Amino acid sequence: METLLKKSNVDISHKPAGKFEETRYEKIHNVIFSNSDVASIRVAEEIASLIKEKQAKNKPCVLGLATGSSPIRVYEELVRMHKEDGLSFANVVTFNLDEYLPMEPDSRHSYFHFMHEHLFNHVDIVAENIHIPDGRIDYDSAVAYCLAYENKIQKFGGLDFQLLGIGRTGHIGFNEPGSHYNSGTRVITLDHITRVDAASSFLGIDNVPRKAITMGIATVRSAKRIVLLGWGQNKAEIIKKTIEGEISSHVPATYLQNHNNCTFILDTSAGSQLTRNKTPWLVGPCDWTEELTAKAIVWLCSKTNKTILSLTDKDYNDNGMADLLTLQDSYDLNIKMFNRLQHTITGWPGGKPNADDTSRPERALPAKKKVIIFSPHPDDDVISMGGTFDRLVEQGHDVHIVYQTSGNIAVSDMDARKYAEISKRISPSEEAQKIIDAIKNKKESSSDAPEVRKLKGNIRRGESYAATRYMGLEDSNVHFLDLPFYETGTIKKNNLSDADIDIMMNIIKTIQPHQIYAAGDLADPHGTHKVCLDAVFEAMQRMQSEPFMKDCWLWLYRGAWHEWDINEIEMAVPMSPGQVLKKRHAIFCHQSQKDGVMFQGDDSREFWMRAEERNRDTAKRYSALGLSDYAAMEAFVRHKFN
Ligand code: F6R
Repeated sequence: METLLKKSNVDISHKPAGKFEETRYEKIHNVIFSNSDVASIRVAEEIASLIKEKQAKNKPCVLGLATGSSPIRVYEELVRMHKEDGLSFANVVTFNLDEYLPMEPDSRHSYFHFMHEHLFNHVDIVAENIHIPDGRIDYDSAVAYCLAYENKIQKFGGLDFQLLGIGRTGHIGFNEPGSHYNSGTRVITLDHITRVDAASSFLGIDNVPRKAITMGIATVRSAKRIVLLGWGQNKAEIIKKTIEGEISSHVPATYLQNHNNCTFILDTSAGSQLTRNKTPWLVGPCDWTEELTAKAIVWLCSKTNKTILSLTDKDYNDNGMADLLTLQDSYDLNIKMFNRLQHTITGWPGGKPNADDTSRPERALPAKKKVIIFSPHPDDDVISMGGTFDRLVEQGHDVHIVYQTSGNIAVSDMDARKYAEISKRISPSEEAQKIIDAIKNKKESSSDAPEVRKLKGNIRRGESYAATRYMGLEDSNVHFLDLPFYETGTIKKNNLSDADIDIMMNIIKTIQPHQIYAAGDLADPHGTHKVCLDAVFEAMQRMQSEPFMKDCWLWLYRGAWHEWDINEIEMAVPMSPGQVLKKRHAIFCHQSQKDGVMFQGDDSREFWMRAEERNRDTAKRYSALGLSDYAAMEAFVRHKFN
């Protein structure tokens, strides 16, 4: 597939403490990339040059390796370098950080399997040089086994390079909170949060092992060079604590503050909570763009507990924003910000006909717009923008709901069997019996037979039609793309291919919309929302030359997991209490996703509750800033292509 990636030549080598400007708050050298793919390639380049440097000296290159979602792209690039650029792994010796316990190496959940699938099977590494803790050891021999693992690392001269991810508990390897600074390789009990995070790939928390073997903090610290990867919003909080907090066993990754050659490689989302990004005015002089000014004023209101229009010069001065006042006084700043937010509020998401639209979020014309609402899974449309969907239909726009993936993986076997049995009772069929047998005989956490997946997809279709009909839409305006990248039958999805993009381009070309809504919610635990958004971007980019695209605006909504910051919002659609209820009932139509839904993330609230609380919270935040007080609001950001 065509790639839009550009290589980066950003220097990621370590800068000694005191030499980088962020040290006032930050205690670990870090480099932030706008794109995690580009960042991963940069890290792969560092590893490749180390391998080559050692090769030139006829020495082994000893790598400490991590598993999980963070390093996947690094391994992909190393494999590419091996295949296309001739990078050899003949002198490479690897030691993996950890393995679940108990765990059979041939289980698809094992880190042994992970490493072979992502790296070892595709490069010329010598099998004896691969070391991964053995998840089959019994407790009696564990101490001796772990000591031997440590000794082996030493025998090869120690780790030249250690690659790390970070867990939301602050673990590195599986060194959970409480781990000692001097700990070595050992058996550890996994933290509950770590098990919750692993639950979806094990299809349920009960299947996640409770123990693991992990290299210790001292083992990791002994590496000559450490690079930790952090991607996405879910890591932002722990990254801030690790880089800016005090060293503490409660956040084991903070021990890295003492290492003399450690760099964190982050993407913008993972670095977003660092003081220098979140509140840069507290760090030093700022380039006061309109965006930064808006962000700072919203922050100042929450800090002082005041509305925008009641902020004073002193509030600005006292909170690191004095230089903003050199250009304009607080009165002007306040009014400008108030108007900016006021203009985002509209009950006319498709534009208000016959109204001056100079300061409205959407164009008045054409009065009746063609609209595509892209929904990554069959339910994100109503969960994320049910109120706006309702208004668009009510205001006479030609609304098309386009479900990007089948969502089949999120239907439980229990639900699927229920439907197959009903079908069999209505009219006995071989197909229904085959489905029932496949479910009955399914081995724990193996993937579904194709006919079961088909039924699960159909269950979600049926629920989606129920919801869209309830919202007043004709079935002919509802489309199911079943994008191929999703159809693996497992949590792990394929990469986007041209086949996905062609399907996306086709639907856009057929409808020729004036507005596209898409999920800009990148904190989705499986990354499906991110892939679906990439598919929207890629399809729209490839179609830029089509005349209708000049009039096509892209609005991003956020789904069940996160909300935009107030200063980012460009359209806020208020909802009446009645609409809140209507939205709730539309979400209820997705019955397979209610009560004990399979992929809940770490938030135990049901989707309708999260949506309601979030929409209420957005409205409350507007009102706390001194704007009108609504029951609930849905929020959107307009994406403009360069
Ligand atoms: C993996 C490991 C863990 C992960 C961490 C982040 O070998 O030791 O510390 O690096 O849990 O996992 P992901 O990358 O999946 O977010």
